[in-house]
Amino acid sequence: MSVSPDRKPEVTAAETGSGKLPRHVAFIMDGNGRWATARGLPRTEGHRQGLEALRRTIRHAGKVGIEVVTIYSFSSENWSRPPAEVSFLMGLLRRFVQRDLSELHKENVRIRIIGGRDDLERGIAALLEEAEELTQHNTGLNLVVAFNYGGRSEIVRAAQCLSRRVLAGELTPEDVTEDAISGALDTAGLPDPDLIIRTSGEMRLSNFLLWQAAYSEFYFCEKHWPDFDEAAFDEALSCFGSRQRRYGGLNAKAL
Ligand code: FPP
Repeated sequence: MSVSPDRKPEVTAAETGSGKLPRHVAFIMDGNGRWATARGLPRTEGHRQGLEALRRTIRHAGKVGIEVVTIYSFSSENWSRPPAEVSFLMGLLRRFVQRDLSELHKENVRIRIIGGRDDLERGIAALLEEAEELTQHNTGLNLVVAFNYGGRSEIVRAAQCLSRRVLAGELTPEDVTEDAISGALDTAGLPDPDLIIRTSGEMRLSNFLLWQAAYSEFYFCEKHWPDFDEAAFDEALSCFGSRQRRYGGLNAKAL
């Protein structure tokens, strides 16, 4: 899959205060539990409000003209949470797909799922496939849902796939280039994230998009995810707009 380059934003980068707009923004939506605990509420309420923040974020990304939004909705490590919380998160994903899919489809959003599929419950896997299939020809915002996702295991799966092709004689070891590895990842065809936003004050990547984040800009926001809103998003975009990206090279001025 590649992304469509001809989308017109409703709000320009100048209106958000940012010099240049990232093509791809990835979110680590952290702090749902702390948001709820701070209010004397069950953690599940934090996740429920987190879903509202996600809806706001997708809408705003579409308005501003971002091409790809990736969300870390459930990591391969999240299975170790208490069974009741895991089951609540599964229910929330189910509700998100069932309730929001037709609206997202109407809004021309293309949904893509990344992460391990093999050990998923059949009902969830079928729902995710349905979302991908229904929206596969849409040309608006690309919404990439990282579900049962871990960066290291994604790289392992890609390496195994390429190894099998070498063994089968389809590739030589020299064909295993950076491009070949990128093309064997779940994110094949998508641009790497320009900006990774993590809420809730934690400053780590937590096994998210390890290969793809090689030259991403990071933005850490103190707000817990349920409080993340359009203004916080604009602030992150504006900060991105002021960054100098050098990709290991030098500023034009320094040359
Ligand atoms: C991290 O907060 C958040 C998650 C593990 C789940 C993210 C889910 C949502 C934002 C709701 C939308 C969900 C789907 C499935 C579409 P945390 O629980 O780790 O918070 P804490 O660090 O404060 O405990």
